[in-house]
Amino acid sequence: MPAPPPAGGLADQEGSATSMRTHLCGELREAHVGSAVRLCGWVARRREHGEHLAFVDLRDHSGLVQCVVPGTVEARSEYVVAVTGVVRARPEGTANADLATGAVEVGDCTVEVLAEADPPPFAVDDRVDVDEAVRLRHRYVDLRRPRLQANLRLRAAVVRALRNAMDRQGFCEVETPLLWAPTPEGAREFVVPSRLHHGSSYVLPQSPQLAKQLLMVAGVDRYYQVARCLRDEDLRADRQFEFTQLDVEASFVGQEDVLGFVSEAVLDAAEVATGERPGAIPRLTWAEAMDRYGTDKPDLRFGMELVDLTRTFAGTSVKAFAAPTVKGLVVDGGATVPRSRLDALTERARALGAKGLAWFRVGEEGMLDSPLDRFLAEDERRGLLEVTAAAPGDLVLVVADEHRVACTVLGQLRLEVGGRPVHEGPYRYVWVVDFPLFDGLDDAGNPLAAHHPFTMPHPDDLHLLEDDPLAVRSQAYDLVLNGWELGSGSVRIHRGDIQSRVFTALGISDEEATARFGFLLGAFRAGAPPHAGFAVGVDRLVAIFAGEESIREVIAFPKTQSGADLMTGAPSPVAPAVLTELGLALQQVPPASAGGSTATGGDR
Ligand code: AMO
Repeated sequence: MPAPPPAGGLADQEGSATSMRTHLCGELREAHVGSAVRLCGWVARRREHGEHLAFVDLRDHSGLVQCVVPGTVEARSEYVVAVTGVVRARPEGTANADLATGAVEVGDCTVEVLAEADPPPFAVDDRVDVDEAVRLRHRYVDLRRPRLQANLRLRAAVVRALRNAMDRQGFCEVETPLLWAPTPEGAREFVVPSRLHHGSSYVLPQSPQLAKQLLMVAGVDRYYQVARCLRDEDLRADRQFEFTQLDVEASFVGQEDVLGFVSEAVLDAAEVATGERPGAIPRLTWAEAMDRYGTDKPDLRFGMELVDLTRTFAGTSVKAFAAPTVKGLVVDGGATVPRSRLDALTERARALGAKGLAWFRVGEEGMLDSPLDRFLAEDERRGLLEVTAAAPGDLVLVVADEHRVACTVLGQLRLEVGGRPVHEGPYRYVWVVDFPLFDGLDDAGNPLAAHHPFTMPHPDDLHLLEDDPLAVRSQAYDLVLNGWELGSGSVRIHRGDIQSRVFTALGISDEEATARFGFLLGAFRAGAPPHAGFAVGVDRLVAIFAGEESIREVIAFPKTQSGADLMTGAPSPVAPAVLTELGLALQQVPPASAGGSTATGGDR
């Protein structure tokens, strides 16, 4: 993947001079030779050659420049200094091609110490690998590193591009409350106890979902917000408690309109970040994505599509293949994979929910090497080779099970065998449309909302709502990039009768609906326009553009995997006086039940 250009860097900065400096360190070039300059920054490196010559590499956010001092220098690494001198060409043979300022240096320098600094906890250098805990504890030093500086600026440029695209398309940015009521996104919520109403709490929004729908009822017509969202869910490379969405909602629109608005914004951001505008974003239905890739977030950077072998084994006498669906996955050149690896893959398939995994090493002239080979009928052997188009030297993995299990297990193995890190290789976007309205059943046997309870069923499937709810498709759609879910959205229900039917299907009684969403349902009775929307995960988008595997690298002050802020020490114990003020008392709860909620995560 090409390194992103320095989006939002020096080029767009007008006038770097302030009352303290004339230039930025990183902007000096041969054109500046002869200029008297005053620079401010941090000492990246100091080298002294006796008493009469010292070199200081001076760093600010724009880059690094070499300063030559005719004497000694009092400043050590990471001291904050102002350097005054004259720009000159470097002596012949000493230019540094690795440095943007490498053709020049600042000569005859005097160095004024503006602030002393403790020795840094680690070198401020992208090439030095530092333990993440140490980095996060000293994030203010970590962020001085060029890579993280570039990430923050890239993030700003991406957000600016998203905002510009929404403004251009007639959207109005509206801020919505952070102290709010529960949002039905499916994750555990952060609760803020009220000082004025003991025993009651606000809930931090998992997204502005309800607020933006209310804005539609309010006639805002086209809303967006670069919105901070909060979800108390397990953290991982693509999840933080706090994250940012480009949140969008529009009235008198359908799915096509929303896909158009969002594509425009994301493609603009891609262009700003990568220098290249991607082509139109292709589409898959959810059913196709599951069938061909075994996931609702297919990574289209590589093939290895799942192959359907159900018909090949329709009348099979092989017990392991007597299942509603038989799916295959071809691993090119995988026949040399050792038995121990195949055993590990089988274990993995079981851990993912399959009853087992069959494998076939394809040899010359269609010979199959597999413990199952001697049980296959000749037409099954031939069918397997024909349908999978496996060639000598390939490996075929087969899972027979319920359709969903066979697809998802092989889909996961596809990623584990053939996948690559999210930020590598070309950018491959895909819209996944026609998600099911419900996804599985809860403990009481009621269907669970796949997106949220306000998602409009697919018009062609409305008649199935009562009798075959799990077969109902919805007007919900996701945007996927390199196998990461970048965002989701849906057409919303704006009609009371359809909303009641969906609540009933979800097992939500009228009383419960009124208690949980009464204000929204009341608002809808005030005249709700047809509306639809979407939310893009900004952290994920920026991480991929920045070539980072974790969104932590594009967030100024992220939490660790265990949800701690190592720099501030948050979360920290609550002072007894604060508890009293909030009308709360601490209870000793065993750790297991303290984390016992079943909420897992909001995004699909
Ligand atoms: P959803 O819950 O799918 O939809 O979230 C939309 C996008 O937000 C990002 N995201 C996250 N990013 C980082 N950390 C997290 N913990 C996290 N959770 C979600 C993902 C995800 O695709 N209100 C709906 C949108 C709508 O229907 O308009 C919603 O929030 O990129």
